[in-house]
Amino acid sequence: MGEIILENVSKSFGQTHVIRDLSLHVAEGEFVVFVGPSGCGKSTLLRLIAGLEMVTSGHIRIDGRDMTAAAPYDRGLSMVFQSYALYPHMSVRENIAFALRTARRPEDEIRAKVAEAARMLQLEDYLDRKPAALSGGQRQRVAIGRAVVRHPSAFLFDEPLSNLDAALRGETRLEIARLHRDLAATMIYVTHDQIEAMTLADRIVVLNAGRIMQAGSPRELYERPANTFVAQFIGSPRMNLLPAAAVTGAPAGAAQVGLRPEDITLAADGPLSGRIAAIEYHGADLSAFVDCGPAGVLTVRAPGLVAPREGDGVKLAFGMAQLHAFDAVGNRI
Ligand SMILES: Nc1ncnc2c1ncn2[C@@H]1O[C@H](COP(=O)(O)OP(=O)(O)OP(=O)(O)O)[C@@H](O)[C@H]1O
Ligand SMILES: [Mg+2]
Repeated sequence: MGEIILENVSKSFGQTHVIRDLSLHVAEGEFVVFVGPSGCGKSTLLRLIAGLEMVTSGHIRIDGRDMTAAAPYDRGLSMVFQSYALYPHMSVRENIAFALRTARRPEDEIRAKVAEAARMLQLEDYLDRKPAALSGGQRQRVAIGRAVVRHPSAFLFDEPLSNLDAALRGETRLEIARLHRDLAATMIYVTHDQIEAMTLADRIVVLNAGRIMQAGSPRELYERPANTFVAQFIGSPRMNLLPAAAVTGAPAGAAQVGLRPEDITLAADGPLSGRIAAIEYHGADLSAFVDCGPAGVLTVRAPGLVAPREGDGVKLAFGMAQLHAFDAVGNRI
């Protein structure tokens, strides 16, 4: 259960083409993460899958059935939004039970499912509280609980953790990973957070202007980005791109080469030299922005222990195996 197939899906709002001829096969039980710049169509794509928007053309199949025109409820999916959208006058228990009550499920089934969700999401101590008396992280877990009790074949999450502080995000991220393991349900998850994408996804789908730029495992995207867009989107700080002519020994046909900040070291000798224009200290490590003249300003990630200073002349060393090569239109070669 939970196989979702998008076939040549397009969506326009009037003259605005938001999703363009997009095809994607999400396997049963897979955890797929959508990433991409603001406005690229992530939420729209999720809403099309959920049935909250209708496609302009193309097909959506869920578990082998054509669901292109089906109402949201009939698709058997649950969506969790960034805004929790809890009912403020209802207790946590009643919020979680809401969909089951609406569906007129028997009382003992409701009780059992709410108890199961509360245990899974560590909400047992809060069942009688109102949402106003909960922290942001607890409210988000209630919103997830409401989705869980419906036993959907797939969960659709739209930036569910973006309102939480860093520590709570980390905790809730682990809970979502555990939920995915326990329920073995398909999950499609939209985020702006690189760490969430890298840690949660079986597969990351990178979108730009309504099209898929690349879909692959986090490791594939990091190690073999298909184009300069993905190369600079996955990884933080982002990959340096420099003219191939600036690097001796760049592969034939390359117009640009990419070097990740973590693949460059400040060394006594190296093929590139420059001057440190600025330093950002992060604690465990630091980013040095090195002005290499015609090669551009390169970001170098160095251990926080080393002590380069702004204005220092430095040499940059890297392994040729770490070089990513791209052609004139930005595709990997
Ligand atoms: N109902 C609508 N009518 C017109 N345009 C819309 C509508 N909904 C979305 N759009 C446009 O579609 C594009 C994609 O929006 P969408 O919300 O899917 O982006 P997103 O990738 O989720 O962005 P963000 O990361 O900021 O949430 C945007 O340019 C947006 O203005
Ligand atoms: Mg969005």
